[in-house]
Amino acid sequence: MPTSRVPRPRRFLVCEPRHFSVEYAINPWMHPEAPVDAGLARGQWAELVRAYRAHGHTVEQAEPVAGLPDMVFAANCALVLGGRVLGSLFHAPQRRPESTAYDTWFKGAGFEVHRPESVCEGEGDLVPVGRLLLAGTGFRTTWAAHHEAQEYFGVPTVSLRLVDPLFYHLDTALFALDEDNVAYYPGAFSPGSREVLRRLFPDAVLATREDALAFGLNSVSDGLNVFMSPRAEALAGELVRHGYRPVPVDLSELHKAGGGIKCCTQEIRP
Ligand code: ARG
Repeated sequence: MPTSRVPRPRRFLVCEPRHFSVEYAINPWMHPEAPVDAGLARGQWAELVRAYRAHGHTVEQAEPVAGLPDMVFAANCALVLGGRVLGSLFHAPQRRPESTAYDTWFKGAGFEVHRPESVCEGEGDLVPVGRLLLAGTGFRTTWAAHHEAQEYFGVPTVSLRLVDPLFYHLDTALFALDEDNVAYYPGAFSPGSREVLRRLFPDAVLATREDALAFGLNSVSDGLNVFMSPRAEALAGELVRHGYRPVPVDLSELHKAGGGIKCCTQEIRP
């Protein structure tokens, strides 16, 4: 295990939760009848942006659209690799208009957007790790979209089956630590997919169900600093043991929609 880990500056796209609320239930975390503190959500989100900037990362913002309460979850709008943008096609009709709103941002920033033909929720289910693209399916993004992603980027794509509805996106159960390694919660995956992960990443950091329920796997790593939920305490300890530096940011109010740090963060990879 390397003793000195090197952070790499990132370019992130985020979207302020100005119109955030829980109005429908498209995952088991969402309870429209429970109250949401919109001011608290905005304050917690602003802390995340501050933390990224304080660690030298570039943060850009898409303009939030009224009537799209989940638009804060920027990760779902696309996957950007090598400066190429694979857009999104949401499973839930309520979220479909977000794709157009984000495509407008990408076009304004000088990118072309390739729209997928089958349901594809961007970085929610498509996680690049070094030379591979890990791709989740089972609840949202389809196998067909994995194939589309592989054809579009020309990057070997590894399909993984998610089996627990609480971990409905790959990014709720796994995140990339750096180009070579990941952290994940094995219980979120089918037996075959667990075996695939074990073979690909024999030195992975394994998280507990408690870590996963605390959105600990919905983290963003720059190769050294891991922006993560302060509630995933066991995982934070494991990461320190592996030479990473947890940077706690609490997005508890956004958890009520089933999202955390990574969900709020789209990475623009040059
Ligand atoms: N309410 C949103 C949904 O269910 C949350 C999305 C969270 N995003 C993520 N990348 N996991 O679609």
